[in-house]
Amino acid sequence: MVTTPLAPSDYLDLVSPLRAGADLRGRIEAVHPETADAATVVIRPGRGWRGHTPGQYVRVGVDVDGVRLWRAYSLTSPPHRQDGRVTITVKAIPDGKVSNHLVRRATPGTLIHLDQATGDFVLPRAKPAKVLYLTAGSGITPVMGMLRATAFDDVVMVHSAPRPHDVIFRKELHGLVAAGKLKLVEVHTDTDGMLDIARLDELVPDWAERETWACGPAGLLDTAEEHWTEHGLRERLHTERFRPSVVVTGDGGEVTFSTTGRTVDADGATPLLDVGEEAGVLMPSGCRMGICFGCVTPLKSGAVRDLRTGEITEAEPGVLIQTCVSAAAGPCDIER
Ligand SMILES: Cc1cc2nc3c(=O)[nH]c(=O)nc-3n(C[C@H](O)[C@H](O)[C@H](O)COP(=O)(O)OP(=O)(O)OC[C@H]3O[C@@H](n4cnc5c(N)ncnc54)[C@H](O)[C@@H]3O)c2cc1C
Ligand code: FES
Repeated sequence: MVTTPLAPSDYLDLVSPLRAGADLRGRIEAVHPETADAATVVIRPGRGWRGHTPGQYVRVGVDVDGVRLWRAYSLTSPPHRQDGRVTITVKAIPDGKVSNHLVRRATPGTLIHLDQATGDFVLPRAKPAKVLYLTAGSGITPVMGMLRATAFDDVVMVHSAPRPHDVIFRKELHGLVAAGKLKLVEVHTDTDGMLDIARLDELVPDWAERETWACGPAGLLDTAEEHWTEHGLRERLHTERFRPSVVVTGDGGEVTFSTTGRTVDADGATPLLDVGEEAGVLMPSGCRMGICFGCVTPLKSGAVRDLRTGEITEAEPGVLIQTCVSAAAGPCDIER
């Protein structure tokens, strides 16, 4: 009562935001440029941090221009670092709100919100004899987490980036090559063109014998999944996507955000998360690709379409939708 309207924990947050029992946060302690548009952010997580398995990602809540935005980033540090800190490595994308903020504007001392690490793009307990990492662009990040944590006798990485100086972690990768710990094939797409998956026979002749982890743009992952499936090897390929694969769109409709009191027209292809944010509605979010459930919201009336499957969900009491992968399918009311 003495501290109303603030709770005592709000005052404790001012002096000890990383203490045990507080909402999980982290303090940015350093930002190291990796390439012209990518940087590694060094974070000291609060006491509640339960650690991670290499390959997993963490949801990060960052305040950008007074709005808290949540995004997912793969952990690039090995687990149990002596100094207790973790790293994420972010590539700034054109018009990207959070990625540009973290790469170009974040400063040491800034507090960010964190969730526990999660994700199943991880190595198995029993080490495979031969490993292939197939990555492109920022898709190298979860694999770097694995490379730093686990040594294999026989590991090949095929990595695509526009030019040599766009390869994130290039110096470290070449150090591993020099130490005989990695075979690296760099594909520079500006000069070599996009990687044609059929070239794997030539680049990594024994690719089919390798347990493979792949991460990169949808085009690369779609063709890899087709290739491994055609050869009857789908279970040997593990993929991580940074964006959802949108397969079905349709007619949109008028979307009402009844709690905020906003109504806007939406097409049938734009996720309601983007529609709401664009309209200035406070929308919870996380991975923005249908895996973390950080965006679930009650659908009060109308219908929405799942952009990954085309499935229509109609409003009924208690129905929740994932706004990051759902678009309007006619008029609807979202409880935000
Ligand atoms: C499991 C997981 C792990 C991830 N790990 C990493 C990581 O380690 N490093 C990293 O840099 N990113 C990673 N991402 C992507 C990251 O979460 C954000 O999507 C990315 O940083 C863009 O956010 P933004 O706020 O800058 O862009 P927004 O402001 O959300 O979007 C700006 C524009 O870019 C488009 N866009 C959004 N995301 C992407 C994308 N990934 N590629 C191309 N265009 C996009 C949007 O459609 C929009 O037009 C990961 C995503 C997932 C789901
Ligand atoms: S934001 Fe992760 S499921 Fe929608």
